[in-house]
Amino acid sequence: MNNTVSAKNVGTVVLRAEDVWKSFDEGTITVLKGVDFEVNEGQTIALCGPSGCGKSTLLHLFGGLDEPDRGTVSVNGIEVNRHRNLLRLLRHEIGFVFQLHNLIPDLTLEENCLIPTVAAGIDHRTAQSRLRQLTDRTGLSHRLNQRIQKLSGGERQRTALCRALMNKPKILLADEPTGSLDEQTSSTVFELLLDIVATEGVTMVMATHDRELAVRCDRLVEMHDGRIHEPAAD
Ligand SMILES: Nc1ncnc2c1ncn2[C@@H]1O[C@H](COP(=O)(O)OP(=O)(O)OP(=O)(O)O)[C@@H](O)[C@H]1O
Ligand SMILES: [Mg+2]
Repeated sequence: MNNTVSAKNVGTVVLRAEDVWKSFDEGTITVLKGVDFEVNEGQTIALCGPSGCGKSTLLHLFGGLDEPDRGTVSVNGIEVNRHRNLLRLLRHEIGFVFQLHNLIPDLTLEENCLIPTVAAGIDHRTAQSRLRQLTDRTGLSHRLNQRIQKLSGGERQRTALCRALMNKPKILLADEPTGSLDEQTSSTVFELLLDIVATEGVTMVMATHDRELAVRCDRLVEMHDGRIHEPAAD
């Protein structure tokens, strides 16, 4: 594990789940059973656990994409589902990399990345300059006008990363950001991700099945039996 953990552990709590419960299908499946979880500013956290244990569900709650049945989820001390201007809060504070990218296949890389900036009211020049910066950094500048459907898997993952970071969020929720990639490409995309979050001071929670990537985050937490478990520190 990264040796900056102790310094980052004393920071401000930016994400908090308190006794969070979530079920689906009219209560027939209970996925989250009293999740308690805190994330400090600037930390990178790997959220691990078997398929179907609820990693995406928890990330969706933090991103305001769904609501808990019980308990509270807060971002920067503000309870997500009670905030009167939730969308504004989330558009500026949080970037989300979806497990299945959720890019629009018929639009170009550039168009996909500009969508969240329009929603957040960012002016076109600022958005264009941010887009250049991110695509330079991720090696995608030559693909700006390419439609998503013509990009490779790795290029799509990097595009999803750029889109999530367009509004300079302070928090990145990344759901299997390298999930569908081969080992080499996965490692390259992950390096890039760690590099960007470190230089921009972004707090990241990443759901992953990849243990080799997970141990490179500041903290690794496991989800099972509907709760979060954290291995004791050495
Ligand atoms: N909208 C939904 N309606 C019904 N069931 C759902 C819904 N979303 C998730 N579930 C169920 O909740 C459980 C947890 O799903 P979730 O996607 O959070 O798991 P996960 O840990 O992200 O899995 P994976 O590692 O495969 O991505 C699964 O049993 C899933 O079928
Ligand atoms: Mg998932």
